[in-house]
Amino acid sequence: MTQQMRDTADIIGRDDVNDLEAILSVVNTDADEAVHAVESVYDTIFTWDYEKGQRPKLDKLYEKAKRAQWNGQTDLPWETEVDQEKLVVANAVANGGFTDGIDVSGTALAHWGDAEWIRFGIESQNWTLSQFMHGEQGALVCTAKIVESVPWIDAKYYAATQVMDEARHVEVFAKYLDDKLSGHYPINAHLKLLLDDIIADRRWDMTYLGMQIMVEGLALAAFGFMHQMTTEPLLKQLLRYVMSDESRHVAFGVLSLQEYYQQLGAAELRERQEFAFEAAVRMRDRFLQQEVWARMGVDPKEVAPLLEQVPDRQVFQSLLFSKIVPNCKKLGLLDAADGWLRERFTEIGVIAFEDWADTGEEYDTLQATGTDAVA
Ligand SMILES: [Fe+2]
Ligand SMILES: [Fe+2]
Repeated sequence: MTQQMRDTADIIGRDDVNDLEAILSVVNTDADEAVHAVESVYDTIFTWDYEKGQRPKLDKLYEKAKRAQWNGQTDLPWETEVDQEKLVVANAVANGGFTDGIDVSGTALAHWGDAEWIRFGIESQNWTLSQFMHGEQGALVCTAKIVESVPWIDAKYYAATQVMDEARHVEVFAKYLDDKLSGHYPINAHLKLLLDDIIADRRWDMTYLGMQIMVEGLALAAFGFMHQMTTEPLLKQLLRYVMSDESRHVAFGVLSLQEYYQQLGAAELRERQEFAFEAAVRMRDRFLQQEVWARMGVDPKEVAPLLEQVPDRQVFQSLLFSKIVPNCKKLGLLDAADGWLRERFTEIGVIAFEDWADTGEEYDTLQATGTDAVA
């Protein structure tokens, strides 16, 4: 039996997607835990059909992945000196100062001088890279689960290469944090909720939808921005390498789900739409960086409204969905069930990207330069 159609409150735990109070009330209560267990009951699938290349596009991707392996220890210039403070200051100068365009008078930030803003910039970078690292572990675990649960041999083969890729990504982000930055953050509560939901679902295609389409789609855009913005050569190269793998991972999701979704009925597609919407909101909620404000001794509730004034913030945030929306469209998820997901994406201001290049189209370009980079 399929479940009842759910409303926004059932899916994300609040009626209004923009309810700041509700968003900030979600906090990580197990920040000191050393391990985190998620219960998941699902079928591990053996297939006795070993014929390689039945799904030629997946097979091609697998062959490419084997050639594109790189070594996180030896292929990156780890000897590069990183001066975090200098980078934060240079970045602020390039953007016209720390508070350009924001009126902080009457708030806790009114008393902040350069020292506090520099500290904030450093904490913010530590937080961002920590979340990348945690997200990469999510990808590692999810993809290992896909190896077990997907029924097609070509997909099991490909997913096995992605497991190796993700191990390398966790490794390089952890090393960058330890060797070059100045502290870790626990996983953000919203990201944790999302990863838990993805890994707990027993349906193999939901792992793909949550991870390859949503989380990795957003990561690909976020890594792209950071790669463009950063002036730090080690991080730039690290991101370039990671991105060349990520574009393949997102393409793996699109190729696999395209075939599978063709045989699903309207009610089943609606469940996928709801899952995509939930993932989009969780990822959006994380943009507030509430743990950074808390560590700086500032109430996130006080500063969250100020963030609205940051020039281009809305544009920047919605651009993070520029890979996800075209890929959802390609999978038929925008317009199934009377366009339910199209309406939700319109509400959260990201529908404008529907006709941007999907990862299938874009993949060859990225891969061509990516393979050069790691040759
Ligand atoms: Fe990754
Ligand atoms: Fe990935």
